[in-house]
Amino acid sequence: MTVMDLKLSVVGCGYLGATHAACMSSLGFTVVGVDTDPEKVAQLQNGILPFYEPGLDTLLAEEMKSGRLSFTTDFSSVANADVHFICVGTPQSKDGLAADLTYVKSAVKAIAPHLKTGSLVVGKSTVPVGTAQSLREELMKIAPEADLAWNPEFLREGFAVEDTLTPNRLVVGVANDLAEEVLKKVYKPILDLGTPWIRADLPTSELVKVAANSFLATKISFINAMAEVCEAAGGDVTVLAKAIGYDPRIGNKFLQAGIGFGGGCLPKDIRAFMARAEELGAKQALEFLREIDAINLRARLRVIDVVRSELSDDLTGRKIAVLGATFKPDSDDVRDSPALDIAAQLNAAGALVTVHDPKGIEPARRRFPLLQYAESINDAVKDSDLVLHLTEWKEYRQIDPVKIASLVKNKIIIDGRNMLDRDLWRKAGWKFRALGRTD
Ligand code: UGA
Repeated sequence: MTVMDLKLSVVGCGYLGATHAACMSSLGFTVVGVDTDPEKVAQLQNGILPFYEPGLDTLLAEEMKSGRLSFTTDFSSVANADVHFICVGTPQSKDGLAADLTYVKSAVKAIAPHLKTGSLVVGKSTVPVGTAQSLREELMKIAPEADLAWNPEFLREGFAVEDTLTPNRLVVGVANDLAEEVLKKVYKPILDLGTPWIRADLPTSELVKVAANSFLATKISFINAMAEVCEAAGGDVTVLAKAIGYDPRIGNKFLQAGIGFGGGCLPKDIRAFMARAEELGAKQALEFLREIDAINLRARLRVIDVVRSELSDDLTGRKIAVLGATFKPDSDDVRDSPALDIAAQLNAAGALVTVHDPKGIEPARRRFPLLQYAESINDAVKDSDLVLHLTEWKEYRQIDPVKIASLVKNKIIIDGRNMLDRDLWRKAGWKFRALGRTD
């Protein structure tokens, strides 16, 4: 049997699963994607991506044509596959900080009766440490000949295809050599590129993922804390970030001060990590993450304070244009988006908020139907008392401040992402304010 004779299944075809299925197919594997949502499956089966991700739409269409990739709601179709990737969501639970493991547990349960001898189930979802071990035990009760490994995913939205096909490392949590061998076969084309391979035990592999996201969240909140101090001391956080970033031990990535992190991963992962540490009796070790979360949420309030100060603390009936709804550019994801949260808070305080976003208007409208939405930047800023730049889409850096000056009522812009060219805007007569910069 050659490596490509291995057949794969991907359980859960959301962001992670759809990307993984299409990318594995592009490596030459036969892949079946399974999901409980018939609408999603129908779209994918027709080669249509249910969300926006640069490059993935074309890859999906190509792979559907290749005949290697298919999608179904029928869990028994995993019976032909040798390796099964679990890619379902682990959202924050409704009644606390912990992760909701319902979908992961039911995914393993749903495929277990169909597994052929020697199958390997590979978890990719982000889970609290200890989950893999208990799922492995459960799985082996139903399918004693199967095994379970964990293979955390580090892909970033906006770079999902690149991060899957050329990741900066592959991490596998395995209970024995055989599971590692199987995974090495699956990832051979990626390993051949020289990608570092890290074998870990099951708990360490689960911890790697949440440790990485916690570190990233910490970096962002660190620079946002520095932004607060800069504001108090008359400094400029963008210059500070640049200066410390030249030290290779610190590095210049993830030091962009602004309205902070959001999305479906960083916020819920640090909270679930705290909840799990408490269960394990290690609460104190992660107390700092509480502060990371608090600094992050404070950044949203700080930008609202700047808006208030510019509008003489009277938001009622004031027209505010919000540029950006998604939690980051090159995505249509509005889950826990700082931009949308700020827009909603301003709206609740009486302002008339109009939101623009290149890709996220429909998902934003579904979440906050009471906000106004504009299809063009010009429509969004028309007659506004103030413009807020909250998601750093390239389109917004290309705005000509001279041209839009004639559309607004007041030439006031607040850069919530520290990405606009301050001099350019000021030259065009705008009052320019940003988080962490007193000038
Ligand atoms: C994050 C991680 O970066 C991925 O490695 C991980 O695989 C993924 O979560 C996951 O767990 O699935 P993602 O959620 O796509 O990826 O977004 P990031 O690029 O990490 O950005 C998160 C947030 O931080 C965004 O709201 C972004 O605007 C904000 N951010 C990022 C800053 O405010 N400042 C920065 O310097 C960098």
